[in-house]
Amino acid sequence: MRKMKEIKAGTMNVRKFMEDKVHDIREAVGDGLAINALSGGVDSSVVTSLGHLALGKRLKTYFIDNGIMRENEPKQVAAAFKKIGIPVEVVDASKAFFSALKGLTDPEEKREAITQTFYKKIFGKLVVKSKAKYLLQGTILTDVDETVAGIKRQHNVFEQFGIDPQKAFGYKILEPLIELRKDGVRKVGHALGLPESMFGRIPFPGPALAARVIGEVTPAKIALVKKATAITEAALKDVKAFQYLAILHEDRVTGMRNNKRVFGNQIEIRCWDSLDARTATPTRLPFDVLEGIAAKITKTIPEVVSVTYNITTKPTSTIEAI
Ligand code: XMP
Repeated sequence: MRKMKEIKAGTMNVRKFMEDKVHDIREAVGDGLAINALSGGVDSSVVTSLGHLALGKRLKTYFIDNGIMRENEPKQVAAAFKKIGIPVEVVDASKAFFSALKGLTDPEEKREAITQTFYKKIFGKLVVKSKAKYLLQGTILTDVDETVAGIKRQHNVFEQFGIDPQKAFGYKILEPLIELRKDGVRKVGHALGLPESMFGRIPFPGPALAARVIGEVTPAKIALVKKATAITEAALKDVKAFQYLAILHEDRVTGMRNNKRVFGNQIEIRCWDSLDARTATPTRLPFDVLEGIAAKITKTIPEVVSVTYNITTKPTSTIEAI
């Protein structure tokens, strides 16, 4: 396992970092083509923009709509990038992802199914079609740390795991952000001139909303957690927290609607204060904000009868639920 060096946000020379990475990307790709998958998250947005700066039209950017993204995400992300002159092709692949996730309940098996569907089934085919030999990816140091430590298998970490992407999938992976943590990535996003709505966004995990459904991931459960996520993000957008999310629990609990007993779903809200996601503490949100979220979720989503707020730090918790 290769040990990564860390570039700290506080002391980094952002201009020099960008120049070096643009140079490295150009040198690796030569006259060839590279492709990358944009998810709309901070890391993939920054790497897309950096790659575009280095390669221009020789970088082809896809947005793989896996069906487990947030509400309207594919359209919004593609439109935002079009606005800054980066064309993005949206590929609808939701059926493939849901069928790969069918019947799986173990968190690592779910992550693995998403990885395999993404890299082998969907993206691998696009790479072959495009004749690109390079895949540009926004892996950051925290992804590597947590995978190496065996905490979570981050779907974008291969080499550190002893997997040769050339052998496994037929292409080479370039990871220009791998020495940075989230705060460093944001600095690069800022220096690249991206709108704050892109680099200042709260982090979002590679396995998307599947990381927030405990147990089997189905289209119905994703639809539910998608609505709860939209409500939570809207309610907390002005709170200066590192990240906030809604989780759909597998267990159901007794509740009541229209004076009748119902057996309904539970949503857990998490809101985190953190610098770099390695450790985190729950944000001390005002109680009326929490009550507002609970009321809106139970009013808008009939299946949900209970909403809770996480009060545990990372560790022992992690930020996401799976
Ligand atoms: P955890 O849940 O491990 O998350 O405390 C730490 C940070 O990483 C994000 N996260 C991921 N990001 N691929 C990613 O690119 C993943 O598989 C993944 N899993 C978690 C999470 O949202 C948090 O910011």
